[in-house]
Amino acid sequence: MEINNFISSWLFTLILALAPLFLLLKLKQKCVNIRHKLPPGQMGVPWLGETMDFYRAQQANRLFEDFVQPRMARHGKIFKTRLLGSPTVIVSGAEANRFFLSNEFKLVISSWPSSSVQLMGKNSIMGKQGERHRHIHGLISSSLGSSSAEYLVPKLSKIVQRHLDVHWGGQERINLYHFTKNLTFHVVFECLLGIDVEMGMLEIFERILEGVFTPAVTVPGTRFSRAVRARKEIERMLVRIVRKKEEEMERERENSGGGGGGNEEGGALLLPRYVAAMLRGEMSEEEVIDNIVLMVFAAHDTTSFAIAMTFRMLAHHPNCYQLLLKEHMDLKSGKGEGKDINGEDIKKMSYTWKVARESIRLFPPIFGSFRKAIVDIEYEGFTIPKGWKVLWTTYGTHYDPEHFPDPTSFNPDRFNEPKPPYVYVPFGGGPRVCAGYQLARMNILVLVHHVVTRYDWSLIHPDEPITVDPLPFPVHGMPIQISPK
Ligand code: HEM
Ligand SMILES: *[C@@H]1O[C@H](CO)[C@@H](O)[C@H](O)[C@H]1NC(C)=O
Repeated sequence: MEINNFISSWLFTLILALAPLFLLLKLKQKCVNIRHKLPPGQMGVPWLGETMDFYRAQQANRLFEDFVQPRMARHGKIFKTRLLGSPTVIVSGAEANRFFLSNEFKLVISSWPSSSVQLMGKNSIMGKQGERHRHIHGLISSSLGSSSAEYLVPKLSKIVQRHLDVHWGGQERINLYHFTKNLTFHVVFECLLGIDVEMGMLEIFERILEGVFTPAVTVPGTRFSRAVRARKEIERMLVRIVRKKEEEMERERENSGGGGGGNEEGGALLLPRYVAAMLRGEMSEEEVIDNIVLMVFAAHDTTSFAIAMTFRMLAHHPNCYQLLLKEHMDLKSGKGEGKDINGEDIKKMSYTWKVARESIRLFPPIFGSFRKAIVDIEYEGFTIPKGWKVLWTTYGTHYDPEHFPDPTSFNPDRFNEPKPPYVYVPFGGGPRVCAGYQLARMNILVLVHHVVTRYDWSLIHPDEPITVDPLPFPVHGMPIQISPK
């Protein structure tokens, strides 16, 4: 008995002695848990997670209503899920945009599916970081800066009018969405890059774009393998174009005694800028080619959808249309017969730009985009572990009644006052903000100007459904009835 007594009293002492240590350990554990509190939300079934729900909602163009909104209602503006094997945190709202978009390269980097990277090329701006990224981003956006608008607008205006003459002349019915796709393709090549579009180029590019968000399976017959073949085809064309430009510029440099920087206009176009950077050894040929391919991807479906939705909203809101029409008629009658619009005139289209911005607020061409955490991130009391994905969203921001009262109604006058940063984000924000924003703006304004001053038009299907593949578009290509004024 004595032995037993001894043991139990010894145990008792031991426990007493160890208790604080135990408590301390427990507490520490708790602290770690608190410090590593994951955002709320369901991870779904193993690997797939909630991917099927996500796809189903996306296909119906109801990703926000059917996937994001119900989860926001349950968990708040930040929640976790799992998509295609990746734990993903979905965030909404201006604060989240500011945090994640401005911390690009520090806390997160942009993250694209393997098929996109393979088709755009790993040397495009998408995959670049830090200084390399800044250099390429700067080349693109400075080609489109305010000083360039002076020569860009007349050129853009000529292209728009040529396309209207060719495709609308003698017609009663036009597929507006298909028309704008062809137009924006020519605008990117001729206005921004300074490359003449060759036969069949658009079709090859469309085949590439069709594979960008499909599984990267190179089995013959899949969309992806067709896209890879198209990519090789376009690469051959572009290599030829880039090398020709290179020879041309080298010859020019020799002729001008080594100091030549090209003429004023050539100086602003992007291909000569890229090739000049190549000649200085600042860019490789692969980088030039990949960035041309990426640019088409970035500009094509986005601008076309923005234009389609602007016209749709104009058709639905005749009062706004009257105001907009007056803006363009006044501009036209103030210009004198046969005078084309220029960079200054773009600034006078302020009501039109409000209409376009409001249309893009309601129907942002880009739902949001993925980032990857490169460190453990602390945000709003939650931890987002290193390696997890983050999806920031335009819809989750644009439908916030705090910044856009009665958010589902169409009201261009919302933009009478400037919006605080990160509240309106159809073009993203931070270091990866859209490099083509100015081109998109000019493209939309110039097209609207020529259409409304030359044609009466109406939608054939006023409530045409919108589908997503993977960017949104009107299912019938948005046919409109037209008649010349
Ligand atoms: C209405 C039309 C457009 C919309 C809504 C749009 C939207 C966006 C958005 C949201 C991003 C950021 C993506 C991210 O953060 O991951 C972006 C990036 C980009 N956009 Fe646009 N875009 C449009 C038109 C254009 C055009 C016409 C060009 C062509 C020059 C262009 C070129 C780019 C490029 C190069 C980037 C990548 C910038 C970088 O990574 O630094 N975009 N765009
Ligand atoms: C695009 O437009 C150009 C010129 O306006 C035309 O020659 C070409 O056939 C069009 N391409 C398609 C696919 O519609």
